[in-house]
This record gives sequence, C-alpha cells and structure tokens, in this order.
Amino acid sequence: MMHFDLLQACERIEILRTQINRNNYLYYALDQPEVTDAEYDAQMLELKALEEQFPHLITSDSPTQRVGASPLEAFGVVAHPRPLLSLANAFSDADLESWYNRSLKLLGGRAFEIVCEHKMDGLAIALTYKDGRLVRGATRGDGYNGEDITQNLRTIRSIPLSVAGNAPARFEVRGEVYLPKAGFEKLNRERAEQRMPLFANPRNAAAGSVRQLDPRVTAGRALDVYIYALGYADGELMPATHWETMQYLKSLGFRINPNNRRVATINEAEDYYRQWTDARSSLPYEADGIVMKIDPVAYQEELGDVGREPRWAIAYKFPAVQGRTQLNEIIVSVGRTGTLNPVAVLQPVVVGGVTISRAALHNENDIRRKDIREGDMVFIQRAGDVIPEIVGPTPEMLSRAGRSAPFSLCDKLYDAASMAPVCPVCSAPVFKPQEEVMYYCPNASCSAQVEERLQHFVSRGAMDIRGIGGQMAALLLREGLVQDIADIYMLDGRREELLAIERLGEKSVDNLLLAIDKSKSRPLPRLINALGIRHVGEETAELLAAHFNSLDALSAATETDLTGIPSIGGKIASSIMAFLRNEDNRRIIAKLKAAGVGTLAESATASATDLPLAGYEFVITGKIEHFSRETAEGYIRALGGSAKSDVTKKTNCLVVGLDPGSKLAKARALGIKEINETELLHMLGQA
Ligand code: IVH
Repeated sequence: MMHFDLLQACERIEILRTQINRNNYLYYALDQPEVTDAEYDAQMLELKALEEQFPHLITSDSPTQRVGASPLEAFGVVAHPRPLLSLANAFSDADLESWYNRSLKLLGGRAFEIVCEHKMDGLAIALTYKDGRLVRGATRGDGYNGEDITQNLRTIRSIPLSVAGNAPARFEVRGEVYLPKAGFEKLNRERAEQRMPLFANPRNAAAGSVRQLDPRVTAGRALDVYIYALGYADGELMPATHWETMQYLKSLGFRINPNNRRVATINEAEDYYRQWTDARSSLPYEADGIVMKIDPVAYQEELGDVGREPRWAIAYKFPAVQGRTQLNEIIVSVGRTGTLNPVAVLQPVVVGGVTISRAALHNENDIRRKDIREGDMVFIQRAGDVIPEIVGPTPEMLSRAGRSAPFSLCDKLYDAASMAPVCPVCSAPVFKPQEEVMYYCPNASCSAQVEERLQHFVSRGAMDIRGIGGQMAALLLREGLVQDIADIYMLDGRREELLAIERLGEKSVDNLLLAIDKSKSRPLPRLINALGIRHVGEETAELLAAHFNSLDALSAATETDLTGIPSIGGKIASSIMAFLRNEDNRRIIAKLKAAGVGTLAESATASATDLPLAGYEFVITGKIEHFSRETAEGYIRALGGSAKSDVTKKTNCLVVGLDPGSKLAKARALGIKEINETELLHMLGQA
C-alpha cells in the first residue's frame, strides 16, 4: 500500500468512503453494480488498512462500521433484533489457513470441526416465526434495518408459512433467496422478447424479483431459498453446533443445501473448496465461493465479531469464471473523450450463467501483447461482474495456420480515400498523443462523441437525469434539440418540439423536464465528473471539488495549483487545463451556470466532525508561498475546517502570509490566534 501522511489519508479515506457507499447503494439498493466484486473488495481492504493506520479517522458512519446499504423507502422498514453480518473474504489457501490458525490460537488450541457451505449468490433474508407461523420476512438492508418483504417472500414455495409444533415460540432464520440459472435464462429470454432491459446476472434478477412492490410479480419468478443460519430463538435450548442446528431447521421444514459438509481438518475444507471450484458450473445455481463456519456455537460466541464480520466464519471466493468462444470481429467504438476503443464481438456464449456476446479489449498494445486476432478461439473471463474480458487466445491458436494478421488499429481504421486511419463514425483523421496508448478522434463534434458525452452527463454517477437513457440521448441529438450537454437545460423552452417527437406524450415530457430541473442541484463533484474531462472520473472530481469548492475556482486554476493536489499528476492536470482552455468548453460551462446549474460545493465536509480541524474557522491574509490560496483553503476544508475571507469574532485562526493586509490588524484587535505559513504547513501535514 502507498504510504500516506495524515492529510493524504484523510482525503483518500473520504474518497474511498464515497465510492464504497455509492457502490453499496448500487449493489444493494438498486441491484445495479457498476464495479466488479474484486474492485469493491479492493476498495474496502484499502479503507480498512488506512483506518487501521489512522484509527482516529474512523467515524461511526464509515462503511467499515456498517453492514450494507440503506433500504429503499417504498417498503416498510423493519429493525433486525440481531444485525445481519457480512463475511470476511479469503482468496487463497494461505488466507484460509491464516484464518484457521488465528481462530485456533484464539481458542487456545482447542480443535473444532468446520462446516463448508456454498456461498449462494442471491439476496440475504431473515424470516421471523411466531407461534409456528411466518410473521415477517425482511431483506438484510444495512444489516440493522431491512425492508419488509413478507408478502413477496410468502410467494416462494420453499419458505414454510408455518412450522411443526415443537418449534421455539419466537425465532428467526436466515438464508439466501436466489434464482436458479434456468429461471434466470428463462426470465431474460422473456424480457428480451418484450424488449425489456435484461438482468446482468441471477443475483440481480433475484433481488429485483423479491423487491417488487407487487407480490404477483415475485410469484411469477422461479425463486428459491436455502436457509444457512438461525438468527435467534426464544425460550428453547438449541443445538450446540451449527451442523446440528441446520439438521434441526431441516426437521422443521426449512430448505437446507444438501451440498453442505462438515469436515474435521483445514485440508478437507480445502478439498471441498477445490471440488466445487471445478464442479460449480454443473450446479443449478450461482455460487461465488465457499463459506467456512466454525461448528461449535459456544466457540462462535467466544470468537465474536470484529466490525461487521464474525471471526468464526469466512468466505473463500471462487476464482473468476472462464469460458471459451470464437472472436468473430474486433470493431472500434468511439468514447466520449474521442478514445477509439476496440471491442470484441463474440460468438455468444454462456459464462457462469450469463450470455456474453461482447467484451472489452483495452487497447491495441494489450491486444498485441496477448496476441488476440480476429477469428481466434479465445478464453473469456467474468469475475462476478458485468463487463467480461478476453484472457487470450486458446493455446492451439498459436500454432494454427491461416490465422488472421496481428491486430492493427490503424489498418482497421484505414480509409483508402484519405490514405490514413480515420474515425469510423465521422471520418476525421485519428491521432495518438505521445506517451499514450490510445488513438483518438480529434473531432469534438463527432456525433458518436457528443452522444457518449451526453450519456455520460446524464448517467447515474454524474447528473443522474432519469428519463434520458441511451435511446433518448440519440433521439434528442437526431432531432437537433441538443448539440451539447448544456442544451439539456434549454429543453424547458422547447416543450412543443419535444411533444412533436413521435411517441413522447405530455406526461413523459413533463417527467423529463422535471428530472432535468432536479438535476440542477447535484453536488459539485458530480457536475465536475459530468463534464467528461479526459482522465477525470468520480475520484478526481471529488478531489477537485474539495479543493476548489466551486466551478469558477476550478476554471481559474493554474497547472501548478492542480499538480499541487496530492494524487493529481501532470497527465491529469494538463488534460484539465486543455479542457478549460477550450473555447467550446468555456461556453458550455457558462451556459450551465446561466441555466441555474449549481456550481458551488455544499460546505464540503460539514458533517465531518471527527476530522482534526473540525469546528475551526481559518482566514488567510497575505501570500502563501507553498501553494495557492485556493489550494491551502482546500486542504483546510479537507481536514474538516472552514476557510473564510473575512475576519470576524468567529474566526479561530489567522494565517499570516507575506505582505499581510488589513485583516491582520482586525484579527489583533479581536485577539485572534495567528500562525505563519510554516505552522500552517505543519498543521496540514505538508511540512
Ligand atoms: S453466513 C455471520 N452462509 O453472504 C455469517 N452467508 O457476506 C452470515 N451468503 O449477504 C452469513 N451463502 O447472504 C452465510 N451459506 C452461506 C451463505 C451466505 C450466501 C451471503 C449472505 C451474506 C453474505 C455475507
């Protein structure tokens, strides 16, 4: 891991928390993840490591202190009497063995058996039974509060509505609702016929099916459930081990996975993992790993939890799923910043329950390095996520005669008339900046670029304008209603023209205009991200917003101001400068402002009361040599302080730079503490 000082750690932690919270929301609340599980795990690991290094930066709302995301409001909210925990992950035998040895040590060397279970890729639920009857079914939600989906869960046949007579008076079981692979494929076939968006994977399909406000929809989906834990039980003596608890629950009528095994040694647990790593594709459902649980309940209680994870269980994740198919063609698509992206068109193939017909190919160098050629049989890999990737050609390809020529982007884009490679959409000659691997279409008005920019602008991580999806963006462009992103905010004056578009009714137009209007108040980082500056994604947008606090201040930034920000290097800084210098972009920014789009940061870290400078108000007078005033103020805010331009009674500290102005006298009259630049740098961890 990179070594961070306090300030960098603060910033990095903020960024990671924002990303993780967003990913939690996308994954748990919307069932539409945008990052891979591996990326998410990496973010979480990095955050945990940083918080371990800087424990005073842990806040109660850090995602490491929570179990998941907030539930949607449409369902009733139920509080879980005992939180639904999450699981730590192991990715190798070494990880698993260190978990095992740690547990053994904590238990003073007492031996234990391990229950191995499939980690079902579905949706966690808790079912409460009272006097033998199912009274409530809830989602996990954030682990403490879930959604009341009782009516929907009642439609799942393998969930008993009542249990046999000898059950505890009140108890809760936990398990996973999932959609078997066959049900998933059928559902997506039907949706394709009805021209509805397809579910990316069975997990999303299951979650989408269970969290339906209309239980009849849930009933129509082939959902199933496996129970894997007893949440709590009142008044009765329960079995002493997890294994026996499962047998007992089975006797009460709950569906328990018959593939569960109890083993005596860690080697046997590893054998079980390997057996199912090989056999998982033959399973009727998706599993993404093996959950290992220490069997004796007394030991589980002794070991307890750490944060949101029990010490007595771990999820040993399966490696990414691979498949093989033919690479029919490599086509080139134009990205929003003009990047010319090679895309693999594949003979459709099912990998881990998902049909894949396209895959990302990163760039020409990558394709050549892996020696991927059109017509090859290739291995593809899907790591529990949406965008599959090509691993490489299958071994027999390498010696095959008659293989097509090594891939060349320039050949692909070659235009006989102009005798040069050109953009496949607008035919402008392409270019490749030095030290970059990508080729670009230089024409900012290229219709593919404009459409991509528009789509990016309205997307969820950006201005989040519901109602303008890919189709609508293309339509608005085609109809000439928008030429750039700012034109979206001019649409309210063009209601009649919108209504003239075929199949756009009054109601749709009203909803669209409402969504556009609502988006005007999106936070600054989203707006910056939405602008679509090359190399500036969500993360950098967060950094820029925290430092500059307004689009105006960012627009006035110099390259030195930008490179003075930790984690912004020369490449990003020069791309931002190029963007800001461009006349068209300045015009777009001015149009956005004129339309009333918010370009100021909300008091950037107002809620960060745990940060070292929280509650302190700073005023700077005179010149600071180390960095620009904007940047200094950005640092102060990043650490929880506020930076004002005038000295008042509320000012806590005056930073006195070179040639201080009248603020100095005013501060002295009020008896306000003064510090010099060196002291400021120390305080900001920059000395
Ligand atoms: S036990 C305290 N067993 O995995 C342990 N969880 O990251 C709680 N999951 O959302 C979970 N199959 O829904 C357990 N056999 C299994 C599981 C399982 C899937 C899910 C669970 C939770 C997630 C934990």
